[in-house]
Amino acid sequence: MDVVAVRRALIDWYDREARSLPWRAPPGSDARPDPYRVWLSEVMLQQTTTAHAAPYYAAFTTRWPTVGDLAAAEDGEVMAAWAGLGYYARARNLLACARAVAADYDGVFPDDEASLLALPGLGAYTAAAVAAIAFGQAANVVDGNVERVMARLFAVDTPIPAARPELRRLAGRFVTDERPGDWAQALMDLGATVCRPKSPLCRRCPVAFACQGLATGAPEKFPVRTPKSERPRRLGHAYVLLDGRGRVALVRRPAKGLLGGMLGLPTSDWSAAPASEPPAPADWRQTGSIEHVFTHFSLDLTVHVAEGEGDFLWTPVEDARAALPTVFRKALDRALA
Ligand code: ADE
Repeated sequence: MDVVAVRRALIDWYDREARSLPWRAPPGSDARPDPYRVWLSEVMLQQTTTAHAAPYYAAFTTRWPTVGDLAAAEDGEVMAAWAGLGYYARARNLLACARAVAADYDGVFPDDEASLLALPGLGAYTAAAVAAIAFGQAANVVDGNVERVMARLFAVDTPIPAARPELRRLAGRFVTDERPGDWAQALMDLGATVCRPKSPLCRRCPVAFACQGLATGAPEKFPVRTPKSERPRRLGHAYVLLDGRGRVALVRRPAKGLLGGMLGLPTSDWSAAPASEPPAPADWRQTGSIEHVFTHFSLDLTVHVAEGEGDFLWTPVEDARAALPTVFRKALDRALA
């Protein structure tokens, strides 16, 4: 593999084709982007696509323009602003990290990968991405896009996840002191727009000349995967209790566990055969069901609706829609449909 030629071709492509994204400095720019914004965008992008993350990024940076502002925010406000991005442990880690930067570093992100990695909730990927993009350091930034590009370039036939160390080592061969942030983002853009998971656009690929995966005739086969075990399915009941004046009964979920500390609808256990256990006596009516896919299982919730009263967090329906994690918002919408 001619590493130098591949680097040059991909950086040239990035100079022409870089996506314009709100958290990004234009290619080749000397202006260093704000580490807070790079970090925030990278945490959001681990969770979702650039298109879905953009409005959240805009809302966070308008409301909390600096890491100090975010550190001073109320937990509940940040969790509510995160609602819809999924995986709420990330929002809790986000706050813990902002508070550590505010308390231990006077609100200034440390500029080396090791200190970044030592911050709470900041993993290997994010530390490398911030070091490269915000601080111009030669960090090896490896996400799923980069793994896929490397697996194809080198036609790696070891299946994921066993191939991960090898893919990381291959990615490291391209990392130099020259424009490390642009290099990382060029790889990500290539992975997102050209070297796509399902139908790669090899005719548009600036590094097709070197691609061993393309040479096999079936580049989309890489990275090779061991067949996934199916996600277990769980069942549950969700209860939409209305007060007749536009408010819905919510509960605060226990701090530990899935969606810990978030607002939720009252529900039964989530298991193979949960009993219906309404949270208050009322004239309950079933209104269908919703499905939601979590990382480790999928959940079928039967939705029940009634009018009634009781000791709950009574919340205007529109506020509830905005603050609830997606699974509960779906159940609420099903009940109100
Ligand atoms: N995915 C994760 N981080 C990204 C970035 N900085 N640019 C584009 N896509 C990304």
